[in-house]
Amino acid sequence: MLESEKIILRPFEEKDLEKWTSWFNDKDTTLYMNKRVFPNTLAQQKAHLKNSKVDKNNVQFAIVLKNEERSLIGSIGIHKIDWVHRTGDISILIGEKIGLGKGIGKEAIKILVNHAFLKMNLRKITAGMWSENIGSKKAFEANGFSLEGTRRKQFEANGKFYDSFEYGLLRDEWEERQNV
Ligand SMILES: CC(C)(COP(=O)(O)OP(=O)(O)OC[C@H]1O[C@@H](n2cnc3c(N)ncnc32)[C@H](O)[C@@H]1OP(=O)(O)O)[C@@H](O)C(=O)NCCC(=O)NCCS
Repeated sequence: MLESEKIILRPFEEKDLEKWTSWFNDKDTTLYMNKRVFPNTLAQQKAHLKNSKVDKNNVQFAIVLKNEERSLIGSIGIHKIDWVHRTGDISILIGEKIGLGKGIGKEAIKILVNHAFLKMNLRKITAGMWSENIGSKKAFEANGFSLEGTRRKQFEANGKFYDSFEYGLLRDEWEERQNV
């Protein structure tokens, strides 16, 4: 379990499945996600939970508030972990709208990046996002990630094209930021 002043990152449990499933069916939450196209089911989410417990190349956490109810608010994980090159790709979602725009995204990324570099011994973390996803861009930039490349018109939605922004953070860069 990982924690900061406002939030806790803990493993997902069966009791979380209903909320977790619903986030991927919400048109606002998935506005800039490929998940927006196909419906998500409880069975799919359950299978994903089961798989995430044994898959050594993915780590998945529930984001919960440090309130009395320990309210489940979102998810964050490191995926496609490459243990040879020591890289991994972060994805994050604040699924409960009440949690948006309160610095929770920034804080969750911060805790997970610390964990990735200090405990998992990764060397580089990447993150990809749709060019219009300003909240995501800012949350990663606030944690020291920089834009490494752009894939032009990578995504298409509602008759519009969106670039894919590829962000990255090296452990060296992260260490330098800790000393500032
Ligand atoms: C992207 C996301 C994780 C950001 O989480 P959040 O907790 O709302 O973000 P924070 O409150 O930490 O804000 C981070 C920064 O982005 C800004 N921001 C947040 N949402 C924004 C929005 N919709 N439009 C513009 N700016 C926004 C904040 O003001 C803050 O700016 P600052 O660093 O200058 O203070 C959240 O919007 C989300 O889960 N969206 C749906 C799923 C998604 O798109 N995931 C990312 C896929 S890569």
